[in-house]
Amino acid sequence: MSIDILILVLQILFMLAGCAVAFFFLFSCLSFLYGAPFVTSDRRAVDAALKLAKLKKDEWFYDLGSGDGRVVLAASKLGAKAVGVEINPFLWLLGACRSVLSGRKANFLLQSFYDVDLRDADVVFVYTWQGTNEKLEGKLRRELKKGARVVSHRFTFPGWKPAAKDDERKLLLYVKE
Ligand SMILES: C[S@@+](CC[C@H](N)C(=O)[O-])C[C@H]1O[C@@H](n2cnc3c(N)ncnc32)[C@H](O)[C@@H]1O
Repeated sequence: MSIDILILVLQILFMLAGCAVAFFFLFSCLSFLYGAPFVTSDRRAVDAALKLAKLKKDEWFYDLGSGDGRVVLAASKLGAKAVGVEINPFLWLLGACRSVLSGRKANFLLQSFYDVDLRDADVVFVYTWQGTNEKLEGKLRRELKKGARVVSHRFTFPGWKPAAKDDERKLLLYVKE
């Protein structure tokens, strides 16, 4: 390969990498404005959340804003039918690829969590932020079946009394009555 072709290939690769970074930044800003920024729950918070929800094998589990897919994969590892809902296509793809590579049958939906149908959910995990929780509260109360559990990381649902808390991991459990 001549030096000119090598330089051209490198320029194209840099351009593609630049576009990918720019698009990732753009989608991150949009999801930030539309729901929540991308911040991950750490491993101990994920384990504590699934324990707090008493997630069981074959239950339907949803992570609203699934980020890199870690919560969905942890739920799937416990035998749940796990679904991640993510609006950022890069993160959606990351979750879906991780699911394929780990051999887990988790589902990742590229859509807004405001639009996902939650009627079959047994457990819902949310890590958004306060204003978004307030917007989601009505939807959860309307759509969830009796006994469904919601675990929120860090933020509350102001009109809903938590059934349990894990103060150390900043988790709140809500149960649909
Ligand atoms: C704080 S992160 C939580 C990630 C993951 N659940 C965790 O706990 O590690 C919030 C995620 O929600 C996504 N998000 C924001 N608005 C959304 C929307 N309207 N619908 C779906 N996902 C959204 C963001 O892209 C981001 O990945």
